[in-house]
Amino acid sequence: MRMRNKYRKPTTLHCNAGSRCSLSVVIWSLVGCLLLLHLYSLVRHKDVRDGEFPMRTSHHPLFRELEEVEVEENIQIPPPRKRSPRAAKRRPKRTNTLIDEFLDESSQLRHLFFPDQKISVDPMKDAGNDTFYYYPGRNWLDTDGNPIQAHGGGILFDEGSRTYYWYGEYKDGPTYHAHKKGAARVDIIGVGCYSSKDLWTWKNEGIVLAGEESNETHDLHKSNVLERPKVIYNEKTGKYVMWMHIDDANYTKASVGIAISDYPTGPFDYLYSKRPHGFDSRDMTIFKDDDGVAYLIYSSEDNSELHIGPLTENYLDASLVMRRILVGQHREAPALFKHQGTYYMITSGCTGWAPNEALAHAAESIMGPWETLGNPCIGGNKVFRLATFFAQSTFVLPLPGLPGSFIFMADRWNPSDLRDSRYVWLPLTVGGAADQPLEYNFGFPLWSRVSIYWHKRWRLPHRLSVKK
Ligand SMILES: *[C@@H]1O[C@H](CO)[C@@H](O)[C@H](O)[C@H]1NC(C)=O
Ligand SMILES: *[C@@H]1O[C@H](CO)[C@@H](O)[C@H](O)[C@H]1NC(C)=O
Ligand SMILES: *[C@@H]1O[C@H](CO)[C@@H](O)[C@H](O)[C@H]1NC(C)=O
Repeated sequence: MRMRNKYRKPTTLHCNAGSRCSLSVVIWSLVGCLLLLHLYSLVRHKDVRDGEFPMRTSHHPLFRELEEVEVEENIQIPPPRKRSPRAAKRRPKRTNTLIDEFLDESSQLRHLFFPDQKISVDPMKDAGNDTFYYYPGRNWLDTDGNPIQAHGGGILFDEGSRTYYWYGEYKDGPTYHAHKKGAARVDIIGVGCYSSKDLWTWKNEGIVLAGEESNETHDLHKSNVLERPKVIYNEKTGKYVMWMHIDDANYTKASVGIAISDYPTGPFDYLYSKRPHGFDSRDMTIFKDDDGVAYLIYSSEDNSELHIGPLTENYLDASLVMRRILVGQHREAPALFKHQGTYYMITSGCTGWAPNEALAHAAESIMGPWETLGNPCIGGNKVFRLATFFAQSTFVLPLPGLPGSFIFMADRWNPSDLRDSRYVWLPLTVGGAADQPLEYNFGFPLWSRVSIYWHKRWRLPHRLSVKK
């Protein structure tokens, strides 16, 4: 998308002192350029509309498999169970939606959303044809044969050891409600860490930041909330820095917590919590840019908007600079990534543990303005796409050596048994013109389309599949 960049960053017109600069020549050149751009945009739009889905024309063969559009049958919702005439009288009959079925632990469709443990993804078993294949939604075992506990997680690629570390909420405890109106919860156990060279075989590195059993005033006391831990490495201090959402059981503390370690596998020392910039902060993430500046992004003002701001140089605090973005849009679960100088973000709506529609956003400057591009989900069926494949964004991991290709990491929460929440990893690509820019309506396809492709089963291109 060269033209786009040219348009957005117009080259300054230099006039030497000796040469006379004709204003009309400049104006007419500009008008010409605009006309050409407009024609180009019309052609691009046609390209996009002709195919059912926007496809890149000049893409690498490795992309093809990732971008296959896999369609799901429309799922028949089973007829409601027999109700006594009295119950029927009390509450008029209502047809269930697929989301209701998803949330109903006794639904006949349960196996579609939470496949049986018997068909777990088990990298230690001789998987034959299934080696290196992801099955979004299936139970996924570590090298010890236990389900991976790294929910709401993120991945750090450690340059030194050329190893991937996956950090997330270790939720292997009972799910309960602290009080009648409280959300389903699991006591804080800690942050789990898993290591891998191939992004498929994960070794449990243990709990790298543990919950606090007895000290009730401690942020990490088990009765509190620790969500969405993310780790980045600080080159200047040589420390691994973890940021997380810290809250009480009623989500009124709304703070971020910071922990630090000399090693990717911990143990991390918990430093403190705070309300960044003095604002409430719930779902959050951190993003480290190419220039080493890291940013905190969090849902604030009761989740009605996101805030973004750079961290201090040592990554141990938020600096004073902050911008409000996506104001009034009520987004959470932010996951940021960058491609060819443009910043992208996937967010979810705010519906608790229930799935909802994801949106992709883009910005030229990470501090904004951010524009909303639309729903990035492709394939499956309509309900799948409107529910982010029954999952919620948590992280987007760039695939080394394949610019424009990413892994979209999401959580399929199981509110009746949170430890059994599943991972939905899917290929995400950036390319082609966005087909539905929601906010920016100038007629130019300014942003590249962000696409997340549904697959029942998929694997990374061979080149990336490092031998065990
Ligand atoms: C591999 O796939 C082929 C064809 O799909 C099938 O016939 C064969 O049984 C599979 N082997 C294993 C070990 O799953
Ligand atoms: C309990 O935690 C608080 C807050 O971190 C700390 O100030 C206090 O010293 C701790 N108490 C004990 C007995 O460890
Ligand atoms: C949370 O809210 C409930 C009900 O309003 C209350 O009983 C409980 O004490 C609160 N807990 C905390 C930790 O604030």
